[in-house]
Amino acid sequence: MSLEATQYDSMFSGIIGQNYDTLKQICPLATEMSRLVGIAVSGYPASTSPLEVVELGGGTGITTLSLLTARADLNVFSVDNAPTMQNQAKKHLQQWIDEGRLAFCADDALAALKNLATSSADIVASAYTLHNFINAYRQEVIQEIFRVLKPGGQFINGDRYALDDISNHTRHIQEEISGYFKVLIRANKPDLLEQWIVHLFNDESENHVMRESAALQQLHGAGFTEINLTHRLQVNALVTATKPL
Ligand SMILES: C[S@@+](CC[C@H](N)C(=O)[O-])C[C@H]1O[C@@H](n2cnc3c(N)ncnc32)[C@H](O)[C@@H]1O
Repeated sequence: MSLEATQYDSMFSGIIGQNYDTLKQICPLATEMSRLVGIAVSGYPASTSPLEVVELGGGTGITTLSLLTARADLNVFSVDNAPTMQNQAKKHLQQWIDEGRLAFCADDALAALKNLATSSADIVASAYTLHNFINAYRQEVIQEIFRVLKPGGQFINGDRYALDDISNHTRHIQEEISGYFKVLIRANKPDLLEQWIVHLFNDESENHVMRESAALQQLHGAGFTEINLTHRLQVNALVTATKPL
């Protein structure tokens, strides 16, 4: 059950990616974040042409489905650099690919954004992805999201936003770990349990953790306005931010 160091940053390509459905059991709030992102997108003002949505970290398609079913007048460009995950999304979402409403990109988020034109997207949406990024990379991604959005466009992200109160945050993480053990020991999946615990250490490490105040400040620094954090559910929350007109 040992892990090579090189595997740490691409864990969605391995056993976690192959068993991603178990996240619904060990962390149901992750799925809830996708639902909330869809609801937020449904409230975005309609335009004369379909809304262009860039999705970062589409994974197996849970958030993508939430976006596509939120409203009929949007197209999704879904980015994910783990083929194990994205191939599942392609299988699940064939109907929308055939309708021409869904396209995939296998680049990493920053490279994909850099290839997009300035002011070309109405919405950049994401769930449970940006918390995986190293802080310096996330900073660049946020700046690119701002550039790629049209004036008035929105960044909508349901994610792990660490509590500013570190003791309270730690209590939630401890409860989360207990839940992982309960579900995955009962399911007799010790290898998967190991990988999720290792992954959680990655998420919680100082160079990854996306703490609420710092994250909102980072959006402000990039130029966003109307920055709101809502639907706080333990260590998760929905964040929306607008590129000013
Ligand atoms: C926890 S999953 C979330 C998937 C989906 N949004 C959901 O909520 O179920 C995070 C996804 O982000 C992808 N990801 C992580 N880092 C990435 C990066 N730098 N660029 C593109 N995708 C990335 C992973 O491959 C994974 O599929």
